[in-house]
Amino acid sequence: MTKKIIIAITGASGAVYAKHLFDSLHKKGIELHIIISENAKGILKDETGIGEGYFKKKNVSIYENSNINVRIASGSFRFDGMVVIPASMGTLGRIANGYSNNLISRVADVALKERRKLIIVPRETPLNDIHLNNMLTLSRAGAVILPASPAFYHKPENIDDIVKFITARILNQLDIDNDLIPPYAEEI
Ligand SMILES: Cc1cc2nc3c(=O)[nH]c(=O)nc-3n(C[C@H](O)[C@H](O)[C@H](O)COP(=O)(O)O)c2cc1C
Repeated sequence: MTKKIIIAITGASGAVYAKHLFDSLHKKGIELHIIISENAKGILKDETGIGEGYFKKKNVSIYENSNINVRIASGSFRFDGMVVIPASMGTLGRIANGYSNNLISRVADVALKERRKLIIVPRETPLNDIHLNNMLTLSRAGAVILPASPAFYHKPENIDDIVKFITARILNQLDIDNDLIPPYAEEI
């Protein structure tokens, strides 16, 4: 059966990570559900040049972050994973503290309560105690904290090479085959 993945894009720098993940999953024919926070829209445009139209053209489901009255907000909607990418510290804090006051934090809350895969991709640096505590809370609640910290052993030559390292790690977490980055042992 086709996998169903929810991608939540929030207002942190690193929108290119979201675009790359989206493109990779879309290419694989995976059913995608996209939520873009209001703050993410401007950053997405500035950093990648794309807007909401990019996703709409690809015929995937897109939701307003302000509208909680949609099927993906319910525990009855079965999905294989949710990726918050890039995850702002604001959204991360809302999820860690169970705020559920917008669609992204509500769906993440559902993912945790239904024991579904929730992958959170923060980019922030440095981190304060509040960020670190929130990440620990989330990890203990079952989320995977997967910081956007690419490695360099695969000898990246451009931004795409750097970004695809993070996509590969996320696809591994989602149990989706990929050949984006060769396994480390084959590199040396
Ligand atoms: C250009 C720009 C870059 C930002 N980068 C980050 C970032 O990397 N990490 C972060 O936590 N917040 C960042 N912010 C701040 C968030 O956008 C802000 O906290 C916002 O309230 C997050 O809302 P959201 O989580 O609903 O998208 C940035 C804001 C702007 C305007």
